[in-house]
Amino acid sequence: MSTFGSIYRVTTYGESHCASVGAIIDGCPPGLELSAADIQVQLSRRRPGQSNLTTPRDEKDLVQIQSGIEHGVALGTPIGLLVKNEDQRPNDYSETDLYPRPSHADYTYLEKYGVKASSGGGRSSARETIGRVAAGAIAEKYLKQVYGIEIVAFVSSVGKIRLPSNVAPPSMTPDGDEDDNDVEDILSPEFRQLLSTITREEVDKHPTRCPHPETAERMTKRIIRAKDAQDSIGGTVTCVIRNVPSGLGEPVFDKFEAKLAQAMLSIPATKAFEVGSGFKGTEVPGSKHNDPFVLKNGKFSTLTNWSGGIQGGITNGEDIYFRQVDSYISPLKAGHLRITCDRIGFKSPATISQPQNTAQYNGTPGTLAARGRHDPCVVPRAVPIVEAMAAIVLMDQLLIQHARKTAASLLPPITTLPHTMMIPKH
Ligand SMILES: Cc1cc2nc3c(=O)[nH]c(=O)nc-3n(C[C@H](O)[C@H](O)[C@H](O)COP(=O)(O)O)c2cc1C
Repeated sequence: MSTFGSIYRVTTYGESHCASVGAIIDGCPPGLELSAADIQVQLSRRRPGQSNLTTPRDEKDLVQIQSGIEHGVALGTPIGLLVKNEDQRPNDYSETDLYPRPSHADYTYLEKYGVKASSGGGRSSARETIGRVAAGAIAEKYLKQVYGIEIVAFVSSVGKIRLPSNVAPPSMTPDGDEDDNDVEDILSPEFRQLLSTITREEVDKHPTRCPHPETAERMTKRIIRAKDAQDSIGGTVTCVIRNVPSGLGEPVFDKFEAKLAQAMLSIPATKAFEVGSGFKGTEVPGSKHNDPFVLKNGKFSTLTNWSGGIQGGITNGEDIYFRQVDSYISPLKAGHLRITCDRIGFKSPATISQPQNTAQYNGTPGTLAARGRHDPCVVPRAVPIVEAMAAIVLMDQLLIQHARKTAASLLPPITTLPHTMMIPKH
């Protein structure tokens, strides 16, 4: 449906060519100082027409606050946000009256609802994500102010071009077999450093939003090549979340990583999601993959963190040694953790101008060469969407845990239970 979250509830509305798109956000803590500028920053990072690597659709995507905020302060009531669709060109889509676009959502929406928006992707368009990005910006303001939480996403690959540490070959044993005990050396110290310190300002230095300049240049060429060939190309986004408290996530069906996965895979064009050691963890023996417990600076901790800061679906508050598919994160302060949503895979956009042999809605074979303005690669614009969905998940899980802890704190202290049932003091 169109609503996500339990306490921080985000409902988005709007189609690609209707009058406006936006969101209703329920559950924002009252008293949070909020202005349109807080929200606009992320919307402007998401908007089309930012560079020659994105769709030329020219939308300013200026947010209008409709409700829930007065004199720069959240009232605790539903926040209504609206962004006008201004640069519609519905006639660009006349071919798709006959042909459902291969691998787009035209056919499935029609099958499901029996009717569909008259032009463009309708609700399946990435215009829908404007509401998410706006809601994420509000959540982030609270998360940063109260917890110092930082969320930074960046482009980690376009096509087969990846950040350098991702392309380093696995180490080899003398007999030529891949050495599954030696898993650290695929990681460059530079990349560890990057993940520990990366900021949005650094990410935005290059239009690809890849923070490694040489790789970013190669990615640019790859996207331009797809564009010139009237084709498209996919990619991945990596997201780092820093300074998250322990205890978040609701076993068993709403485990933290399950909520992250749902959030990320609800973004249009996503095809894959990995958290913690991800698929890489399947290649490492348990003796290497387990995170042994140790007492560090008086705090019960783990030596490594292949778990990605989540165990049993609950954030563990660990110093994090976090390995993405091919990456590594340096330790953090005790009591805080770092999670990467590595990697969120985005497919090559479906709409391409290159002629494609396909079939009309009535089954007649034919050739579709789609007109219209499209992203040759979505990942540079997907970065703020990934950050927004991470912020919405965190905000919701935090508010759920707050409710539980507050309710428990009203009870008298427990004195009757055996000590093995309580948190031991270190
Ligand atoms: C930021 C962003 C921009 C997108 N731009 C386009 C586009 O220009 N053309 C296109 O065909 N798909 C684009 N998509 C993807 C479609 O919205 C998506 O593929 C479509 O809704 C079908 O859904 P699915 O790919 O998740 O199955 C974009 C996605 C994102 C996240």
